[in-house]
Amino acid sequence: MPAPELLDPPSSSWSVRPDALADVLADLDPTDLLLAVPVHRGGLRADSDAAGWLPVVGLDATDVQAAHEPSGEPGAVTRLPLVPGERAARTVLLVGLGDAGPADLRSAGAALGRAGRGRAHLVVAVTGLDAQAQAALVEGIALGGYTSPRWRGPDATPSSAPVAEVTLVGTFDEVTCRRAVTRARATMVARNLAVVPSNTKNPAWMAAQARTIGRRAGLDVKVWTERDLRSEGFGGLLAVGGGSATPPRLVQLSHEPAGATSSTPHVVLVGKGITFDTGGLDIKPAEGMLAMKTDMSGSAIVLAVVAACAALDLPVRVTGLLALAENAVSGSAYRPSDVITMYGGRTVEIGNTDAEGRIVMADALAYADAHLAPDVLLDIATLTGAARVALGRSMAPVYATDDALSDALVAAGRASGELLWPFPLVEDYRFALDSVVADVNHIAGTPVGAGSITAALFLREFVGERRWAHLDIAGVGRSDVDRGLLTKGGTGFGARLLLTWLEEMA
Ligand code: BES
Ligand code: MN
Ligand code: ZN
Repeated sequence: MPAPELLDPPSSSWSVRPDALADVLADLDPTDLLLAVPVHRGGLRADSDAAGWLPVVGLDATDVQAAHEPSGEPGAVTRLPLVPGERAARTVLLVGLGDAGPADLRSAGAALGRAGRGRAHLVVAVTGLDAQAQAALVEGIALGGYTSPRWRGPDATPSSAPVAEVTLVGTFDEVTCRRAVTRARATMVARNLAVVPSNTKNPAWMAAQARTIGRRAGLDVKVWTERDLRSEGFGGLLAVGGGSATPPRLVQLSHEPAGATSSTPHVVLVGKGITFDTGGLDIKPAEGMLAMKTDMSGSAIVLAVVAACAALDLPVRVTGLLALAENAVSGSAYRPSDVITMYGGRTVEIGNTDAEGRIVMADALAYADAHLAPDVLLDIATLTGAARVALGRSMAPVYATDDALSDALVAAGRASGELLWPFPLVEDYRFALDSVVADVNHIAGTPVGAGSITAALFLREFVGERRWAHLDIAGVGRSDVDRGLLTKGGTGFGARLLLTWLEEMA
């Protein structure tokens, strides 16, 4: 199935205009033009910016306030249709900015992006936003306009197009806004890959997408086939992928900034890429299996992030590893109680074939530790149902071997609206991973509970002495609602947070 548009989602054409609103509108076709002006808490005040702009389309702020009482709640939109052909816009959108912090602006942007779907032009007039707030508004508009692809012929097409043009009027910084669009598009690429059905999306298909993205972004891409994995001893990927008709792959992509030296910081990102998770012989019940085409979200995020690092020209070396396998049921599937030899030689006793993610991740982490000399090693995975039980659908656990690393990730999460909460690597639970027959047990043999924590403790066994962080996105990786920034399906959670973190590091 050809998929170029999945990797290059349709985008609005963006421009920033410092000129007066009347001058901007004078140049534009009003036929299908939406003009958005802000409403703060307390409504439209006579001394607000919006009150200065409304006369351009023949409206008076005091009258509008009295007649419509527009809400200033973040993301609330009051629509004022204008007489066609008589005004410089077709509709005015009074959009609530709440307290005008980044989270509120992201919601406001998402509402505008949604209102703009399928329309010709969105003009947004706002002044006085700092860089973080501008970025949040722009990310919101871009993601609010996103619709997931559908297959109604040979090719995937979005269910509706984002607004064709967005014009930002006021005090916007062009570079800040352009970078925000790039980050939002990384989220879209990750979402698009997550929505692809698993009869198309097998490990080789994901590797092919990585090659395509890599070629476009100018990245070095290396792919290990099943044969390569065997000859180099990636026993975890081979065990998990062994039951599938479509064999596993490992993909490495690298962003090397111009002028990088050995002292340029090097970050390695590892993503879980289970292209479908049946649970294996420890098979999942039907309701638990249905959503498992998105179990490759971690790898999609890593792929999109490394490509965006190149687009953003980040002065950090970033290597992505995609650990790709299908966890299937067959006579060649791995079994509970098997002992497998991981990359680097450690042996693992399999406790439950449905805990496949940590197995493929461990191979990739061990490889990164042995060969890539990362300053920071970070992994992202839809790893445990327990993470979703603990924190639900809007916040993800972060584990780290280093408090400064954890703090930096939490801060990036807050700035990007992808929220993290630090979870502990509880030493007291480590004993549960002791195995009688192998170096380590792959799930907690003794019931200690804390499924997300024991999974993290297992991964830690494979990171050596590296500074390491782990994001368990099983709860936040999928959305069942179509609301605000989210659409049903994969969320791409983590792409903007990781890019924000990498930008801060630079
Ligand atoms: N992919 C699942 C985790 C998951 C669950 C992601 C729900 C998204 C939504 C993972 O491979 C898994 O099956 N984990 C098991 C581990 C258990 C067998 C120790 C789980 O969480 O139940
Ligand atoms: Mn599983
Ligand atoms: Zn899984």
